[in-house]
Amino acid sequence: MKILFISAEVNPFAKVGGLGDVAGSLPKFIKKMGHDIRVILPYYGVINNNQAEDCKIVDVPDSSIELEFDGLTSQFSLKKCLLPDTNVTVYFVVNHELFGQYEDIYPANHKENFQLHRFIVFSYATLKLVEKINFKPEIIHCNDWHVASIPIYLKTFADNGIEFFKGIKTLYTIHNLSYQGRTSPDVLKFAKVDPEKFYHIDGLEFYGKVNWMKGGIIYADKINTVSENYAREIQTPEYGEDLDGVLRANSKKLSGILNGVDYSIWNPETDKYIIRNYSKEDFKGKSSCKIALQRDYELEINPYIPVVAMVSRMVEQKGFDLLEKIIYQLKCMNLQLVILGQGDKKYEKLLLKLNENTSNIRVKTGFNEIRAEKIYAGADMFLLPSKFEPCGLSQLIALKYGTVPIVRRTGGLADTIVDFSLDKFGNGFMFNEYATADLLNALKLACKYFENKKIWDKIIMNAINCDFGWQKSAELYEKLYRDTLRGKDKT
Ligand code: ADP
Ligand code: GLC
Repeated sequence: MKILFISAEVNPFAKVGGLGDVAGSLPKFIKKMGHDIRVILPYYGVINNNQAEDCKIVDVPDSSIELEFDGLTSQFSLKKCLLPDTNVTVYFVVNHELFGQYEDIYPANHKENFQLHRFIVFSYATLKLVEKINFKPEIIHCNDWHVASIPIYLKTFADNGIEFFKGIKTLYTIHNLSYQGRTSPDVLKFAKVDPEKFYHIDGLEFYGKVNWMKGGIIYADKINTVSENYAREIQTPEYGEDLDGVLRANSKKLSGILNGVDYSIWNPETDKYIIRNYSKEDFKGKSSCKIALQRDYELEINPYIPVVAMVSRMVEQKGFDLLEKIIYQLKCMNLQLVILGQGDKKYEKLLLKLNENTSNIRVKTGFNEIRAEKIYAGADMFLLPSKFEPCGLSQLIALKYGTVPIVRRTGGLADTIVDFSLDKFGNGFMFNEYATADLLNALKLACKYFENKKIWDKIIMNAINCDFGWQKSAELYEKLYRDTLRGKDKT
């Protein structure tokens, strides 16, 4: 099969969260199955400045085109390279005005529609650029709201009689339903989308606004989300972010496939950034990693105090409001809490303050992949008290590092973590309600078992023995691509 995988983030070029991880790893596995899968993302300033030399990014000859949006004509072209250690081609959409001049993937402090406009243009330009270089995929795998306009453009171009775009199918993956790209209908003129055709209740229209996520759901041939549980949850009002009705109406083409982890990157046996490698057979190195982490975070170096870690976007989804409410209790518990994250300024500020007024909670802000790896390796437990969680990669990475997850029973967390109790298998700790008392109970239970080395070792082994590599999920995607091509609904 010929597949174009389009995403706003692709690791290692551009990553803010798990979307980047998935886009940088799933295509490797699809390629290994013998398919021609190519990946495309914008050429952000950060790529330009940091990675061009390492990855030998080169211009794609004869790929230059001009496109006009809002009366302004602008130049677009492609660059390309190979995804590191693979033969997967990655294309970059080059445009200085929208992408090249900004370091950040999602620059803050811009006009309300800035983000929307640049990803609409990215989607439109992608189609025109692959036409220009004559790479016609059979399927375009679209990811998240940023590129939800692709099925709409494909339909528009095909209906306008452009042969190249006829017959291309689309799979739309929802990584996070809470970011939908809602905006005023004025955007349609900018986006060159025909309101007659697409702006109605069974299309982009959403309570008098345009909703791109809704468009992706309706116009894609197939939709999926990143765990089976989240696929069920989003069809309910509690998790549906107001689109549960639309999702229920489209449930025949909706399925869930759990994300995998790329163990060639996330693996304590080979991780080159941690102070000492370790494996389930030889676990000794983990205690050196713990000492290094306690030192890095200026905490008391003590093997008997459990280190609980969070590596996370600092947004409400991840349970920071819950955490905020139990700070006092945490200060008094015999544990150390280590946090690395960036996101909402209100959480960054609030959490950074804890460095000054607590002795057992340490917070660092910023995006730092190397530090993240050191944390996964050095911590004893990994905390993910999410309000909702489509899949979650962090808990899967933690398992591989023998770092025991403590999570809320929601979304992909419920599909991957089994609550430990003495009489049964368990690879972590879970609480049900999004409530401080439940979170505290789970933490206390984990800390209690931590004191019993025999039991704790068993939990660690249960965690580290889990296999959440990509193989199985990539096979499910391969099947989903085939069903998309055949127009087959799930049975
Ligand atoms: P989400 O996509 O919702 O952010 P996931 O658990 O799927 O959550 O993926 C998060 C990914 O981003 C993981 O690879 C995690 O290690 C990484 N990550 C999150 N915050 C940071 C940070 N501040 N520095 C480095 N890596 C981070
Ligand atoms: C989203 C979700 C996360 C998921 C990731 C990759 O950002 O919040 O749960 O793992 O996408 O699919």
